[in-house]
Amino acid sequence: MTKDSPRAAVLGWPVSHSRSPLIHGHWLTSLGLAGSYDRIAVPPDTADAFFADFRATGLAGANVTLPHKIRAIGACDGLSDAARAIGAVNTLWWDGERLMGDNTDGYGFLANLDQRLPGWSDAPGTALVLGAGGAARAVIYGLSTRGFRVVIANRTEARAAELAAQFDGAEACDWATAMAPGPDVALVVNTTSLGMSGNPNLPIDLAGLGPASVVTDIVYTPIETGLLKQAAARGLRTVDGLGMLLHQAVPGFERWFGGRPQVSDDLRALVLDNIGQPA
Ligand code: ATR
Repeated sequence: MTKDSPRAAVLGWPVSHSRSPLIHGHWLTSLGLAGSYDRIAVPPDTADAFFADFRATGLAGANVTLPHKIRAIGACDGLSDAARAIGAVNTLWWDGERLMGDNTDGYGFLANLDQRLPGWSDAPGTALVLGAGGAARAVIYGLSTRGFRVVIANRTEARAAELAAQFDGAEACDWATAMAPGPDVALVVNTTSLGMSGNPNLPIDLAGLGPASVVTDIVYTPIETGLLKQAAARGLRTVDGLGMLLHQAVPGFERWFGGRPQVSDDLRALVLDNIGQPA
């Protein structure tokens, strides 16, 4: 590697748990490209100064993770439509002298479903999104670009109403109703932390869904959450959340290192092994 090979990194606090170096390292090796991808811990009390002087890092770009996804907007000279709509940035790159910000989480969510269930959005219907945090915003943005009617439900119902007001055509529904979705719901998406290892499962009953509906979770530890198990037991189509993590990394890699990487079975197996989940 030469001194001029592009360098990128994930910026967060904490950042030691990030799987991004594993993903980008795999792609650099498999595509035979020069470059490097590291973790940089950016403590919240120095983050504003860090982002204000991003140029000084010499990085070709970066992924931004918690808790800096909103703050990083302030460092950007330009934003993608997705970053503007979602109100958070997870990918930085240079367009000449301008630092640009994108949010690829919505793209990653859609690309995962596109890969695992081709044609899933050909006749978009009603999508029920559970949760109203940052991940929900990205998912709602993605679904709205595919023409879904988005219904949002959240334990703290005011947050669902607030979010629905920010996306054209989105509606809020109460949490209790959402825990028993009916046959009008074509897609159920969990963006809450329920079902994650150590947390209880979503108290949802999928009995009312039609046989053609799809259930997906953005939680990927465990890889098969209680929600997905219940859906599979009912014969519904399911997609786990790992692919969203893998696909959201693609646009950044392409911009920094100049090759289009694949979300392959090999990469999936590598990350599953790293997070201690069965292939
Ligand atoms: P992120 O930005 O990763 O989406 P977040 O903003 O912390 O994370 O959101 C977590 C989501 O999980 C929220 O929708 C939260 O609901 P509240 O807004 O009511 O807090 C949801 N969540 C967390 N624990 C929950 C629980 N025990 N029951 C229902 N929802 C829960």
